[in-house]
Amino acid sequence: MTTINQESGRRVLLIGASRGLGLALAQEWLSSGWDVVATVRGQGRTGLHELAEAHGDRVGIEALDVTEPAQIAALRERLASRSFDLLFVNAGVTNQPEGTVAETSTEEFVRVMVTNALSPLRVVEALQDLVTPTGTIGVMSSGQGSVADNENGGHEVYRGSKAALNTFMRSYAARHRDDQRTLALIAPGWVRTDMGGPGARLGIDESIPGVVKTLDSLQGRTGLHYVDYLGRTVAW
Ligand SMILES: NC(=O)c1ccc[n+]([C@@H]2O[C@H](COP(=O)([O-])OP(=O)(O)OC[C@H]3O[C@@H](n4cnc5c(N)ncnc54)[C@H](OP(=O)(O)O)[C@@H]3O)[C@@H](O)[C@H]2O)c1
Repeated sequence: MTTINQESGRRVLLIGASRGLGLALAQEWLSSGWDVVATVRGQGRTGLHELAEAHGDRVGIEALDVTEPAQIAALRERLASRSFDLLFVNAGVTNQPEGTVAETSTEEFVRVMVTNALSPLRVVEALQDLVTPTGTIGVMSSGQGSVADNENGGHEVYRGSKAALNTFMRSYAARHRDDQRTLALIAPGWVRTDMGGPGARLGIDESIPGVVKTLDSLQGRTGLHYVDYLGRTVAW
């Protein structure tokens, strides 16, 4: 693990930053003066390693597969002496191949649900006490997690996983009603990444600065907010 200077600016713990939106979030927070501890899974070299080389002690890299509870517990242990202004869980997957929920294999259904709905809550529960009393806990959701806005269907298993994630965060928020911290579910828009594909509506540069700005503007507003990359409320 790289050590980072605890005294310089705000600190974010970012889960899932090897590529795509997570890597762009790490870059954006660094550009805004934050120190970043971010996770990748496995031992391979990723875009985050290149970013870390360019930013010296302002980036710490940790290993975490969010679907492995023992790895979450080990990360909690390694970070026991640290505190963060923001915990943001970005890691997520979509189902392959695309199909209706009934067409999806049980194995694939479980993989997507465990990664997108169960694991973020395990991460939040295990790491929440590393977040300062007035800090923020955020999770990358999706506009597709909205039950109310689901007029056209499609991406059924992925949609279901993000809707489940939203519901689990609402339950978490209800259990932590007196918590001063901000809770956020973010819909980044449809963005050109490995997951979003080349035909997506937005480039990373059109989404991620807005996500960071939105999280900043929510800071200090207690309770759970389901908002998009422009700060607009998304219907549950
Ligand atoms: N792109 C979009 O249009 C869009 C829209 C709405 C919401 N989102 C959400 O935004 C987040 C990032 O999406 P993206 O477009 O950047 O996707 P991506 O390019 O496929 O990147 C997914 C990221 O999640 C990590 N990840 C996946 N499973 C993991 C696990 N078990 N443990 C730890 N990390 C894991 C990946 O790590 P590896 O490199 O190790 O695989 C990678 O860093 C996801 O939650 C996604 O659902 C994306």
